[in-house]
Amino acid sequence: MRVAVTGTTGRLGREAVQLLSSRGIPTQCLLRHRIDSSVTPSISKGASSAQVASYLASLPGVTMVEGDVTDATSCKSLLQGCDAVLALHGPARPSPLQSLFRLLPESDPKHSRSVNYVAVQNLINAAKESTTCKRIVRVTGKGEDPFGFFSILINMLGHMAKAWNYEGEQLLRDSVIDYTIVRPGVMGRADVPSGKVLALVDNGRDLPVSAVTHSQIADLCVSCLDYPNTARSTLTAMNVEDGTGEETYAPLLAKVNADSKVFPKTLLEDHKRGARMGSAVLASVVAVLFTFALAAVKGVGSFLKTQL
Ligand SMILES: NC(=O)c1ccc[n+]([C@@H]2O[C@H](COP(=O)([O-])OP(=O)(O)OC[C@H]3O[C@@H](n4cnc5c(N)ncnc54)[C@H](OP(=O)(O)O)[C@@H]3O)[C@@H](O)[C@H]2O)c1
Repeated sequence: MRVAVTGTTGRLGREAVQLLSSRGIPTQCLLRHRIDSSVTPSISKGASSAQVASYLASLPGVTMVEGDVTDATSCKSLLQGCDAVLALHGPARPSPLQSLFRLLPESDPKHSRSVNYVAVQNLINAAKESTTCKRIVRVTGKGEDPFGFFSILINMLGHMAKAWNYEGEQLLRDSVIDYTIVRPGVMGRADVPSGKVLALVDNGRDLPVSAVTHSQIADLCVSCLDYPNTARSTLTAMNVEDGTGEETYAPLLAKVNADSKVFPKTLLEDHKRGARMGSAVLASVVAVLFTFALAAVKGVGSFLKTQL
């Protein structure tokens, strides 16, 4: 088996590449920048993308492919000779101002439409053209509730990232390529429980949101490849109270079934409506706070006048 990886230098991607290498599985990793021989390879917290890339490139079985996931030709080169692709890329977080005022057009390569949707289409097309790539594992997130607090917040502050992740999922469900969609909990928090805590549900079902680690989700993505029954499935992965879950994903993956539920065809308009509602609420709160602040300043001014 040979596995392609996108989002190589990301917090999730780097865990997956290290795991694949340690298991002796050759990888072909997409990298946006050329390896710079002058940087010191590092994987420690705070290392730059260039340092992480240099470190990963030195691992056994790792080949770097220069390119961008929003570029169709890069995706074709990446998938050449690979049996599966782990699509672990995600858009960089824009500044709140840039996102709130929609300063980045949807066609921009950095916009979440390009990274979470167009890129997924590129990978599907590349897999269809390749004679070897039979599986796409894509990490998205909970996003089937366009009017939920977190969907609204992330859509408002992240160029509609939730919305375009869902639309990207739908591209996979409509394609002939076998997919596994992984919707993880919140990655990168410190309060992750340990022990028998792993929980997994299929068919797009829901679990209460919890903190999970990047390495847990990397393990899940890599392990999916060993389970043919995870083809065409949508999984939600969370952590639960110690003792109520499992210690490894193996028993959970063995029970996964392919999607049978009818997923909404598109949720884009609902996601956009949710984000507009959120912006309106935010604007009203700012207006009320501004009015209060103005009244307070006026009050203080009048008080001072009476005292002088
Ligand atoms: N963090 C969470 O709690 C959470 C929860 C649910 C789902 N997710 C999803 O999980 C995925 C990975 O998360 P993460 O924490 O690893 O994100 P991350 O650390 O921000 O990594 C993102 C990766 O995507 C790469 N990338 C971005 N645009 C690209 C492009 N146009 N072409 C090629 N590569 C590109 C980045 O490359 P550079 O290094 O070159 O910038 C980086 O390697 C994302 O899709 C995210 O939305 C995250």
